[in-house]
Amino acid sequence: MDIAVDTCVLEQGSELADRFTRASTWERADAQWPSHEQRTLVCCRVLAETHDVRTFVFAAEQGKPFTFEPGQFVTVTAEIEGKPVSRCYTISSPPTRPYTLSITVKRAPGGVMSNWLHDNMTEGSTLSAYGPSGIFTPSAGPSEKALYLSAGSGVTPLMSMTRAAFDLGQDRDIVFVHSARTPEDIIFAKELAALEQVSRTLRVIHICEAQSEKGDWQGPLGRLSLDLLKECVPDYQEREVFTCGPAGYMEAVRKTLLDGNHNPSRYHQESFNFAETVEVVEAAPEETASAQPCFTVRLARSGKTFTVDASQTVLAAARKAGVPLPSSCSQGICGTCKTTLLEGTVEMKHNGGIRPREIDRGLRLMCCSKPTSDIVLDM
Ligand code: FES
Repeated sequence: MDIAVDTCVLEQGSELADRFTRASTWERADAQWPSHEQRTLVCCRVLAETHDVRTFVFAAEQGKPFTFEPGQFVTVTAEIEGKPVSRCYTISSPPTRPYTLSITVKRAPGGVMSNWLHDNMTEGSTLSAYGPSGIFTPSAGPSEKALYLSAGSGVTPLMSMTRAAFDLGQDRDIVFVHSARTPEDIIFAKELAALEQVSRTLRVIHICEAQSEKGDWQGPLGRLSLDLLKECVPDYQEREVFTCGPAGYMEAVRKTLLDGNHNPSRYHQESFNFAETVEVVEAAPEETASAQPCFTVRLARSGKTFTVDASQTVLAAARKAGVPLPSSCSQGICGTCKTTLLEGTVEMKHNGGIRPREIDRGLRLMCCSKPTSDIVLDM
């Protein structure tokens, strides 16, 4: 891939340079897509990235632009073998190219959705998705210097961030260290090499666990260690770190950085291990009757009502009543079940799937909210 551009370095700390880390940069008044709203995506391209990884490029059915922050994810849903399946995928394309949205998916053994996408998604196919969500974004840790650490398909949110920074014309000081099983498994290798070539301040380092089939891999072999980090990124302690990959990888990275005296408040990781979660949405089993007070939930737009006792989340009660509500992780992380509480009160214990400013605007996550009165939701 050839990219021929003139590069310029924006003055550090200038208002233009800060656009990348401001959430407001990515907001568009004309194209909001709330995380609880389901839309139809039309597949317009399928790209083979490696032998078992494909990028699916989608356009909106109405051709409208997409709005999201680099690093966010969408929840896609499909009916597979007669059951509705929901799955979160981080967006690999940047919001600076708003007329398409891409997800990059590794075919996983037993992965219901990943295999279905690889086997069924072709140009012209459609897919339902809930709007973008997630807080693993540049605005989580504004900084002049960043260290992106990824493994396997965890590269996707960091690729979106890297592409977005490049498209904004910003040579941000980014060191991107990606770990793969073998050289043949490196995702976006050519594009990252091309970006590195034209950017003065992007450095890309690939680490492979095993040698290539041809035996010609010249880069680091093994896993990311503190010694390797010190050698490749001597100023790592000065960098805001963003990490995404399998749970074991992220745990090891966090420990490595702690051992290396990196400030934990400058460490951010994708809190949800999307690669290992497949959520089948189905009615919850009958629960034994409890002595908890009961409240009524009314959905203002559809007019549906159901009851919930004080020990249940709104989502669990809705499933039991056969009322479909958008959801994915059921753990207060992904934000898919976010909706506006129009009347009443709930007690919410979330895990980062909602921002303080959204709570201030009256939004709540239904999977981790228990009512403390009758409530009315904007649904
Ligand atoms: Fe993920 Fe509620 S379903 S936050």
